[in-house]
Amino acid sequence: VPSANVTAQAMVGVVGGSGLYELFDRGEDVDIATPYGATVRVTIGRIGEHVVAFVPRHGRDHSVPPHRIDARSCIWALAALGVKAMISTAAVGSLNPELPVGTIALASQLVDRTHGRADTFFDGNVVRHLPFSDPFDNALRRVALDACPELSDGATVLVIQGPRFSTRAESHINRAGGVDLVNMTLYPEIALAAELGIDAAALCLVTDLDTGETSEDAVTAEAVFAVLHEAKPRLVGAIERIVTALPADYAARELIDRAAIDAVVKQ
Ligand code: ADE
Repeated sequence: VPSANVTAQAMVGVVGGSGLYELFDRGEDVDIATPYGATVRVTIGRIGEHVVAFVPRHGRDHSVPPHRIDARSCIWALAALGVKAMISTAAVGSLNPELPVGTIALASQLVDRTHGRADTFFDGNVVRHLPFSDPFDNALRRVALDACPELSDGATVLVIQGPRFSTRAESHINRAGGVDLVNMTLYPEIALAAELGIDAAALCLVTDLDTGETSEDAVTAEAVFAVLHEAKPRLVGAIERIVTALPADYAARELIDRAAIDAVVKQ
């Protein structure tokens, strides 16, 4: 497990999406060196009894576009801090009328339609095929649903490459294919966390209806950020309730495959 240069410890990681660039009133910044790219600045704070590590995936000034996020470094940094459970937040467009703007959905399935992103830690001489049939951790999802009954459950989220939004034809095909939500960032983050044995859940805030019905209501970045701004207190409140509901001994859980991870660290 990555551990060099780290003295802080955190059990829970929160990855902030668009609109979520800080989480704590009082937190402490630590810089974690990784083998994959720039040093990652993580803010360590407390929610209830738990120590929480927070990383805004677009940077604190929203300067990193979706296709340039160094997800390996972000997840490596969380693992180095000892994180066992990760809550990712994400802005999403909805293709499902039952998930209107303002809904916070807990994703249960994921479709990857990104390309060219570094999406594995096992990229050298260690061959590992991650079981990924259930990309989100069901026990963590259960905790989240019990703590936040307002969450919508069961959504399939499709991750597009971005940074552009979808065409009407793409949106139509995605809807016909059973996709509920569209996003640009949850892949490869969720797969990378799983490779290091971190349980992941994704809180997806519906900010728009993707291409919409008419040319007037198709998504724009401005519309997305307006909804995010309004909904931020609800998103933070959900995170606080989920973290508070996590059992104190969550940290005692073993990583799934310590030998394989040690091999990655050595390669
Ligand atoms: N993020 C927020 N809204 C989105 C959309 N409609 N498509 C892709 N990513 C999004």
